[in-house]
Amino acid sequence: MTGTVVVGLQFGDEGKGKIVDYLADRADVVVRFQGGANAGHTVQVGDQLYAFHLLPSGVLRTRSMNVIGNGVVIDPAQLLKEIEETRALGHSVENLRISDRAHVVMPYHKIIDGLEEKLKGSLGAGTTLRGIGPSFEDKVGRFGIRMCDLVDPVALREKLETMVPIKQRLIDAYGGTERLDLETIYKEQVEYGLRLAPFVADTSVWLDGAIRRRKRVLFEGAQGTHLCIDHGIYPFGTSSDCVAGAASVGAGVGPQFLTDIVGVAKAFTSRVGTGPFPTEVEGSTAEYLRERGGGEYGTTTRRPRRVGWLDLVMLRMAVRVNGLVSLAVTKLDVLGGLDRIPICVGYRFDGEAVKEFPASMRVLSRCEPVYREFKGWPDLSESDWIATAKKGKRALPEAVRKYLEFIEAQLKVPVRIISVGRPRAATIGH
Ligand code: GDP
Ligand code: IMO
Ligand code: MG
Repeated sequence: MTGTVVVGLQFGDEGKGKIVDYLADRADVVVRFQGGANAGHTVQVGDQLYAFHLLPSGVLRTRSMNVIGNGVVIDPAQLLKEIEETRALGHSVENLRISDRAHVVMPYHKIIDGLEEKLKGSLGAGTTLRGIGPSFEDKVGRFGIRMCDLVDPVALREKLETMVPIKQRLIDAYGGTERLDLETIYKEQVEYGLRLAPFVADTSVWLDGAIRRRKRVLFEGAQGTHLCIDHGIYPFGTSSDCVAGAASVGAGVGPQFLTDIVGVAKAFTSRVGTGPFPTEVEGSTAEYLRERGGGEYGTTTRRPRRVGWLDLVMLRMAVRVNGLVSLAVTKLDVLGGLDRIPICVGYRFDGEAVKEFPASMRVLSRCEPVYREFKGWPDLSESDWIATAKKGKRALPEAVRKYLEFIEAQLKVPVRIISVGRPRAATIGH
């Protein structure tokens, strides 16, 4: 029995939600294992669009059990809101399990997120302001409050009595004017804990049981390889590990089970936030890529995304650090209608060829992309893409097949899923 891990290969928003929903059809359990409500995973079913921040994107497939693992930081108010919204749309959320070891995002984390961003100036990542950095800082610094504390009023009170004054001193030192009120925070969080308690469990034990019963488990990554705290564009990425290996730690399952690693790449590149972006384009081409096929606007913050061409230097590194087995390529429909489509095959820095993605942001910001141009393909309507997808890979325009064959040859990884539109039916799988 193998576990399938789905990870983003670029700067997030590759279409992981759509691919997880697609694969969840053949899964019994879907697990989120890192990140938090900074994620925004879109799934379209019929005409209905869902945007998941904390709930696993498998929640719409009623056969699946859904788990939020210990590696996720949980904003209880956001999670409760999502549970209610999903229920209101007619889906059962009773099959959800939340790890008792997952950390809680507290109201002070969001305040500190905003203050730290301001103080960092040009080193700020342009965060989602969801309190992600400060809650992972607290986890590693051992200041954190976990789900097992949130559902235990005595433990919660004890921890808040120590933490709230510490956080107030930090806010004051940062020049913030916000006042934290222990009683207000306690009352609010106890109430969240009571409402979430029925879902909280030792999810590692639960997953171990599922694996022993030969259940099919799908691990849903958030963000992307180049936002990863270890392998991403530090300090402009996020605060959790976003690579496939994190699924083992963040779900509490042994790594030997995670042998099917699927990487999701957009057919071009997008970025919401700051930092170097070698293949970024501006002007009318950027507008073309941003405004079509549902648009490139942040699912969580609605910010317009920066856009650019596909970057194989980024993807080659992502193949390596994730141990990728196959690829899912999304948004090929959006490139329709362009005459020529460049793919970045390497960088040059001070006239020298750069083979590997650099660690230094000073170097990366001065890397010049080297492009190879490909013939474009027609701009088909959504229904034409769906009709093409129904017929399979061989029905795709020849130029699309050539584009994908080049990516496969360069990365030495097969493309297993091809996505040519938002709806489920606009997908070719194997
Ligand atoms: P995620 O964070 O990786 O799950 O991606 P997001 O949901 O934030 O952003 C991806 C966007 O692209 C969403 O609006 C999806 O509905 C959309 N999308 C996914 N696959 C395709 C595709 O093949 N074509 C088009 N046009 N849109 C897609
Ligand atoms: P999904 O799962 C795209 C970016 C933010 C910012 C940086 C740090 O939908 O792909 P954070 O709030 O995590 O401290 O912000 O990371 N970022 C994302 N960009 N997609 C995401 O998630 C992201 N999650 C965080 O814009 O630059
Ligand atoms: Mg997203």
